[in-house]
Amino acid sequence: HTADGEKNGNAHQSYLDDRNTKAQDVVYTTSNGVPYPHPYETQRVGENGPLLLQDFHLIDLLSHFDRERIPERVVHAKGAGAHGYYKTTDSLEDLSIAGIFKEGKECPISIRFSTVGGESGSHDCARDPRGFSVKFRTEEGNWDMVANNTPVFFLRDPAKFPHFIHTQKRHPATHLTHADDSTIFWDYLSQNPESIHQVMILMGDRGIPDGYRFMHGYSGHTMKLINKAGEWVYVQFHFKSKQGTKFITQEDSAGYSPDYSTKDLYNAIEKGDYPGWDLMVQTITAKQAEELWEKQKINVFDLTHVWPQKQIPLRKVGELFLNENVKNYFAEIEQIAFNPSHLVPGIEPSADPVLQSRLFSYPDTHRHRVGVNYQQLPVNSTRVAHRAGNFQRDGSMAFYNQGSRPNYLSSIEPISFRERSVDLDKTHGHFTGDAITFLSEIRPEDFNASRVLWENVFDDGAKERFVNNVSGHMANCTDKEIIKRQIGIFREVSNDLAGRLEKATGVKGYDGISGLRFNGTHNGMAKSADL
Ligand code: HEM
Repeated sequence: HTADGEKNGNAHQSYLDDRNTKAQDVVYTTSNGVPYPHPYETQRVGENGPLLLQDFHLIDLLSHFDRERIPERVVHAKGAGAHGYYKTTDSLEDLSIAGIFKEGKECPISIRFSTVGGESGSHDCARDPRGFSVKFRTEEGNWDMVANNTPVFFLRDPAKFPHFIHTQKRHPATHLTHADDSTIFWDYLSQNPESIHQVMILMGDRGIPDGYRFMHGYSGHTMKLINKAGEWVYVQFHFKSKQGTKFITQEDSAGYSPDYSTKDLYNAIEKGDYPGWDLMVQTITAKQAEELWEKQKINVFDLTHVWPQKQIPLRKVGELFLNENVKNYFAEIEQIAFNPSHLVPGIEPSADPVLQSRLFSYPDTHRHRVGVNYQQLPVNSTRVAHRAGNFQRDGSMAFYNQGSRPNYLSSIEPISFRERSVDLDKTHGHFTGDAITFLSEIRPEDFNASRVLWENVFDDGAKERFVNNVSGHMANCTDKEIIKRQIGIFREVSNDLAGRLEKATGVKGYDGISGLRFNGTHNGMAKSADL
């Protein structure tokens, strides 16, 4: 291993070499590399005496074992992943200067799929959104897409995220999850009606995808693409499964193995049935974004809403395939760090407040979860065309500490700089349409997409399953007031739906939400035109 200096770009490569070394080519040693005759030789005084402190071999073994676990991800702790490649099949050069979007360009990728709320050992077939994270190792640096399998999210105000997540986790006193006591789960949702579109998806057929291969991925957030001329458009990224989509019903899910999705992905790749996705985009100009707001009340910075695909069609950019299982789960999946602020020139964040908060939150958690030098780990390191260097030094586990090069911007030994690829003044032009000032305000249009799902997308069977899923899950919710409130929210979607839920739960819900006060909003239901 070249520990320092020359080979930054190849760190991943040398790691790949090392992980392929066969067990029989390795000599058993202590951690300082000294060969030891046998792993089971504990040094003891006499036949029944105490152990010796000088037995470094045993202390080395036990003390390392004692430190094996790192904190699990605070969300998305249960997951599975694999490696593969991405290729641009249809140039996106007209819209973005990102080198990876030139026709025919390829790069290695790693993907991690996950559930959201459960712990690292939780069930793969939970009714939960699924994470869909892709690390593109481009020549210009790593670009991460940290996406979900749903195009929308439960909230549009980042301050709500920790509250919301806490209600999906274990109860502070009983330590039960919402599978046993759904009270806090529905307490939050019934106070925060902007979650309704995601609730419709979660409680519907898409709530339990059949493994990770049969689902799509969505950036959810609006991002920006910048071209050579410095012009920019808003973009939503989509990963369309080449396998199509499939789901598991609530009833059937009980019969599946807890590691069903993990196994399914591994086995498919192992037998050469490589899963693939098309990378697609929807793009609009700033002007079109303003019109979307004016005419349809869709704010592109509000990820509880989608961009209608009939109006803003999908455009194919490339394809990705997973063709290599990991050799070491911990090194290659547990320690991988996906971050929405890992972007390359030509792809930028939008002003979406939830995205803006995520830009901070992920590298912050990585410094805590993996350590300050997490980027130096082989699976996180880059495969760039240039030799990378900067002035970050030291800290815990500074494996690659950049040798004797100056650790400040020196005039004696200057480092070289690339010219800025785009004019920042141009790309930071602001969205001038009506922004949402109070992110949490509920408006009539928050229910439109859910109504379309109920009235036009769900067939009779899907409706029945939906009602069973919701009422079944609410059955152990101990506070009737919560159920009344949530039925009131469902009534804004459809009277028919609310009526069926009343029948199934035996609880008479509220007539709608206009008379209700929510602790998740500033002032209940607002009129859309007034904003
Ligand atoms: C994981 C925070 C919203 C998708 C995580 C992690 C944190 C986090 C701290 C753990 C990361 C790690 O330990 O490596 C937040 C915050 C959010 C937010 C603060 C909102 C304010 C979202 C949204 C999406 C999303 C809207 C999807 C569109 C994911 C995925 C992972 C993840 C896929 C798993 C990454 C992996 O596989 O390693 N999130 N998140 N999150 N989040 Fe979020």
